[in-house]
Amino acid sequence: MTEPRILVVDDEDVVRDNVQWVMHHQGWSVDTASSEAEARDRLQSANYDAVIADMKMDRDASGIEILKLAKELSPAVEVIILTAYGNLQNAARAMELGAYSYVEKNVPNVDVYQILLLKVKQALEKKRLEEENRCLQARLINVERQATLGVLSSAIAHDVHNPLTGVLGYADLVLESIDENSPIYRDVLMIQEGALRCKEILRHILDFARPDEGETMPVDVQSSVDRVMVLLQRAAMQKKVDIACDFTATSTIVMASPNQVSQVIMNLIVNACQAMPDGGRVRIHTSNRNGSVILRLSDTGKGIPQESIARVFDPFFSTKSRGEGTGLGLYICKDIVTQLDGTIEVESEVGKGTTFTIALPTV
Ligand SMILES: Nc1ncnc2c1ncn2[C@@H]1O[C@H](COP(=O)(O)OP(=O)(O)OP(=O)(O)O)[C@@H](O)[C@H]1O
Ligand SMILES: [Mg+2]
Repeated sequence: MTEPRILVVDDEDVVRDNVQWVMHHQGWSVDTASSEAEARDRLQSANYDAVIADMKMDRDASGIEILKLAKELSPAVEVIILTAYGNLQNAARAMELGAYSYVEKNVPNVDVYQILLLKVKQALEKKRLEEENRCLQARLINVERQATLGVLSSAIAHDVHNPLTGVLGYADLVLESIDENSPIYRDVLMIQEGALRCKEILRHILDFARPDEGETMPVDVQSSVDRVMVLLQRAAMQKKVDIACDFTATSTIVMASPNQVSQVIMNLIVNACQAMPDGGRVRIHTSNRNGSVILRLSDTGKGIPQESIARVFDPFFSTKSRGEGTGLGLYICKDIVTQLDGTIEVESEVGKGTTFTIALPTV
């Protein structure tokens, strides 16, 4: 969560100022309102993480109205009710309506502001955990979907493999039984070549779909790029995207589980292609620096606006329509690269293109 944003609603200047001071001291961003109408305006124009509302302001139970409005506009907001000492009836009602907690004001010998601060901290922590939980659940669903796709594609790859072996076998038989000058000799060679290419693609799909046991082993980054290219080259060509590699690294072996590196490269190339709906160029360059292999992947796509660039690695940040993007690709890339003790950075210029630079320690 970024810096929490709090709204304090109370018609008593002293209470409002004190609460604002205590919250502001935590480095939080605090807005105030002194009436129900002002609170409405604030709630309608900004998103708050927590709202502290006095129960009894210009009229009875106006804290309840603020609670209802806050929850209606943003169900995840946490509301803490300030109530007069000994007047708990309305507080109980507020709790029924979804308030996080209440704090009694003017209790003799009690530092109400410290109690309030504690409750706000607890409420913010609850909100953070709920958000994290939501993200994890959504990610889990996606991981399960990908696992199902993996199982399906390997099943399809298996099934296609058998008839393909037949095609190759018969092509061989025909080639053996005809003369090189036969008018069909070249055609059968083409059949053989096409079938061999299909077998190669199937082998890569099977490799890619094989579940990761989590074991790390030496993986060649440049061979991983080549393997991903076999899978994506044709689709890229159809989208008029030209992908070219310029490998200058001499030390390219990293410790990883086999699919991790391919998955990162795959996600980056898919993003690059999606950023170039009318075609363009992807350049993949490798080099070595300070004991790491540096992989730079540049595209000539639409680029990322400055205001979004800091968010591209966040889970669920996507500018794509539903069905085209979940916003997890780069989050997963960053997660994998971090697990491998590497770094991933992005530079982009709108209308010119984007470059991702990955550094992975070599063995
Ligand atoms: N090469 C790129 N060029 C322009 N924008 C990009 C590029 N790569 C990523 N982005 C932006 O970053 C966002 C997040 O990318 P990410 O890969 O995490 O999610 P996604 O592609 O939207 O969905 P998913 O990968 O889960 O299918 C994208 O929606 C897009 O706005
Ligand atoms: Mg993506």
